[in-house]
Amino acid sequence: MEINNFRDMFLAELQELASVEGQLADALLRLAGAASHPELKRVLIHHRAETETQADRLITILKKHGADPMAHIDQAMEALIRETAKMLIMLKADDLRDAGLIASVQKLKHYEIAAYGTAAALAGQLDLRDEQKMLHLSLEEERRFDEALTKLAKREVNRDALAA
Ligand SMILES: [Fe+2]
Repeated sequence: MEINNFRDMFLAELQELASVEGQLADALLRLAGAASHPELKRVLIHHRAETETQADRLITILKKHGADPMAHIDQAMEALIRETAKMLIMLKADDLRDAGLIASVQKLKHYEIAAYGTAAALAGQLDLRDEQKMLHLSLEEERRFDEALTKLAKREVNRDALAA
């Protein structure tokens, strides 16, 4: 496929993100199942609901512009999720697994934060203000979730893993 203009590049970025969110919605459920700390489980399940809303936002924008939300499979997210699964198998103790789980999920989140930051900026440059607002909402949700994971790791999960 060839992309020849800025708008189509923007839509291709959103198609990648739609694939990212779809993959994450599946993965978050499995990760919540693997988590031991109740608060970690809770934030993962809560973020899964946010992930579905984020996927809906992307589908809404793509359809509005006549683009297929299923056109692309994001191989970078596939690889990151595969690495996460490998890590979880290696971590046998519950506290250690939770610490590793947070580390892995934050890598996924930073990938999304970068992608949403770019997508929102591209929307702004195209003067697509509604799209920009929707992408900012998702970006802020990602940032808040990332911060919640950092707090949880520092206050609880990593301490328990160190003490175990
Ligand atoms: Fe997301």
